[in-house]
Amino acid sequence: MRVDLLAGTLYQAGTVPPMKQHPTVLVFDSGLGGLTVFREAVKARPDARFVYAADDAAFPYGRFDEASLVTRILTVMERLISRHAPDLVVVACNTASTIALPALRARFAVPFVGTVPAVKPAAEASQSRLISVLGTPGTVKREYTAALIREFAAGCDVTLVGAPRLAALAEAALRGDAVSDADLLAEIAPCFVEKGGRRTDVVTLSCTHYPLVRDRLEKLAPWPVRWIDPAPAIARRMASLMPQAIATDPAPHALAVFTGGQMAQDGLGAALKTFGLDAITIDPLPLH
Ligand code: DGL
Repeated sequence: MRVDLLAGTLYQAGTVPPMKQHPTVLVFDSGLGGLTVFREAVKARPDARFVYAADDAAFPYGRFDEASLVTRILTVMERLISRHAPDLVVVACNTASTIALPALRARFAVPFVGTVPAVKPAAEASQSRLISVLGTPGTVKREYTAALIREFAAGCDVTLVGAPRLAALAEAALRGDAVSDADLLAEIAPCFVEKGGRRTDVVTLSCTHYPLVRDRLEKLAPWPVRWIDPAPAIARRMASLMPQAIATDPAPHALAVFTGGQMAQDGLGAALKTFGLDAITIDPLPLH
């Protein structure tokens, strides 16, 4: 048992305290990529009260060194947990999860569900045994990712592709800005490998931003591959840690929180509405 100081209740570590009409779930990312997980999470638990938090003051996370990123994430999470008292947190960001989950779990009593590269399903789905992990430069460098490959994809040739700009391009596309095919193709081209008569047949979308432009990536691919988006599996994992829904009244409106605010401007209000987010709060937490 652990004491949850925020909720002032006792519960078993790893599960949400029971008896809440509308449990609060915090979905966290550096930016808007976590929306691809958020939409699956809402489908899985429509009774929950969702808070979507984007640390846009620090976007993109892919450029940070590991120690600075852990420090930043702990600082932001401290604020979010004290403001919103979530019953469960979904870290909808590979770049954050692959480095900060142990520190988050050590610091806070609330259960965390992470998002990490879908190496195991990719290896299981591949016929050619050539798979690619498409992520941020941070995610593909992590020891966590290397360990997943050693454990689950020993029989495959795995190409790690750290796309420097793809997360930002996906955000721009969501905002309604023009993003060229050439720019998108340059980011994904290294995923497509031909070797000894074999070709890559599975690509993992290991940054939650990438499914935002999945249709375009599919069209631009030099040949068809299976793209793996882990969002539905993350939503299932989240739901499995929550007690049965008891609400009979509609779930409260989801809230979007930004640490910077730039992202909440421009064409974004309309895009956020399409994800069911119409209440937007800016809670500034500048990087320096
Ligand atoms: N959405 C994030 C991920 O899943 C990262 C984007 C970034 O901040 O670099 O890795």
